[in-house]
Amino acid sequence: MKKDKNILCIGAGYVGGPTMAVIASKCPDYKVTVADIDEKRINAWNSDKLPIYEPGLSELVRNVRGKRLFFTTDIAKGIKDAGIIFVSVNTPTKTFGEGAGKAADLQYWEKTARAIVEHAEDNKIVIEKSTLPLRAAEAMHRILHSNTKGLDFDVISNPEFMAEGTAIDDMQNPDRVLIGGMETASGRKAVERIVEIYAHWVPRERILSTNVWSSELSKLVANAMLAQRISSINSISALCEKTDANINEVAKAVGMDSRIGPKFLKASVGFGGSCFKKDILNLVYLCEYYGLPEVAAYWEEVVKINDFQERRFVKNIVKNMFNTVAGKKIAVFGFAFKADTGDTRESPAIYVSRMLLDEKAELAICDPEALDNAKRDLADDKGKFEFVNDPYKCARNSHAVLILTEWSEFRKLDYRKIYASMEKPAFIFDGRNLLDHKELFKIGFNVFPIGSTKFTHLK
Ligand code: NAD
Ligand code: UDX
Repeated sequence: MKKDKNILCIGAGYVGGPTMAVIASKCPDYKVTVADIDEKRINAWNSDKLPIYEPGLSELVRNVRGKRLFFTTDIAKGIKDAGIIFVSVNTPTKTFGEGAGKAADLQYWEKTARAIVEHAEDNKIVIEKSTLPLRAAEAMHRILHSNTKGLDFDVISNPEFMAEGTAIDDMQNPDRVLIGGMETASGRKAVERIVEIYAHWVPRERILSTNVWSSELSKLVANAMLAQRISSINSISALCEKTDANINEVAKAVGMDSRIGPKFLKASVGFGGSCFKKDILNLVYLCEYYGLPEVAAYWEEVVKINDFQERRFVKNIVKNMFNTVAGKKIAVFGFAFKADTGDTRESPAIYVSRMLLDEKAELAICDPEALDNAKRDLADDKGKFEFVNDPYKCARNSHAVLILTEWSEFRKLDYRKIYASMEKPAFIFDGRNLLDHKELFKIGFNVFPIGSTKFTHLK
């Protein structure tokens, strides 16, 4: 197979695995290899139990794996063989040195650039799939051109907009695909090559070409603006709880304004996930770096409101359970940062659980897909907590049930049975406004939704 039909993706995570499975399934004329340094992860991609849970992913992988889609740890060979290299490694928030707590940690990303320089034997197109700060492509370009082999590389920015839980559908039917390239003859040609790949299944009018910096910045801004909507509605949920207004009614009324729109206005215990907080803080850092403190402060507030919402949720629990949860069993329904994923990165459940453990509550945690990750997240935490597969067992003898992830399974449970097995008075704190609160109240629960009046039998 010709090298320009040979794609390598470095980084076999939540983005690399699913995006490449979709490309392989849609582009029969390409061979796609996904490489990672993590041998365990690659073995899992080659097995029946994939390393991540995502609806529709296993079927997709099963159809193309071994035919047009391959998973390997042999990064050097992958680089040699491919003409097109996607880089999809993690870019977490820096925890050390200059910019710690805000800037992106680019060490994994830079290592891939250096690996490409070391192993490449001919010219290649290198595509930033990871979310990166503005001007990262320029830095990548410099590292790649430090090679002494006379090789030439085109660097393209092609950020990923998929959301977990709907990743496959998002990739198969994207709102848009963004491809940013350098404004040179060779840069434009490289953009066209990547456009050609996506045009296998994405209508041309939805494939947007921009300059490389607009592409990099658009990704950060899209995430910041989505998170901003959640923080906006969550801030108003606090006001609703004080005033008898109902956040669901407010969100509906506001969202019916076609200029605002109804999506991403669901009040919750807070947003989680590996992207929102990291990408906003990255934006904040960039604004500070470029001497725009007012703009930085504006965006940082989105993260602060999210922290406030998580803290407020826990304070509400403690206050309403007679100012103490010490020694009380509390059932945590849901640990994933949203439904339909096993991912728990930055999940509000982590912070809520930690605050409750500090209050000496005894936690029982259930989740249909995220318990392995939950165990890792709480591995170093002190206090009493257990992981339980069965929600009925989880709730038995507890004083309160907390809904922290909006799994549809939790809506279908028999809450009469749960109520009967709990200590009394029994509480439900619905951090996702998932359940029928009036019905729960009728059963006997004291119910605390987000952003609307509580239903309580307590005098
Ligand atoms: P991830 O942590 O799930 O996967 C990253 C993978 O890269 C890991 O398996 C890691 O072992 C591998 N890796 C790190 N250094 C490597 C190296 N030098 N060589 C080979 N492999 C290496 O991360 P993710 O969630 O897939 O995110 C990847 C990027 O995509 C990030 O920049 C993220 O911001 C962005 N992104 C993520 C999402 C999402 O929903 N997860 C959505 C859009 C964009
Ligand atoms: C996000 C972006 O949506 C996606 O475009 C980008 O590529 C990666 O980051 P993701 O984090 O996977 O995707 O999930 P998303 O659906 O955005 O949800 C993020 C968090 O916000 C979750 O914790 C979710 O429960 C919460 N959320 C979302 C709300 O609390 N209310 C809403 O109305 C929407």
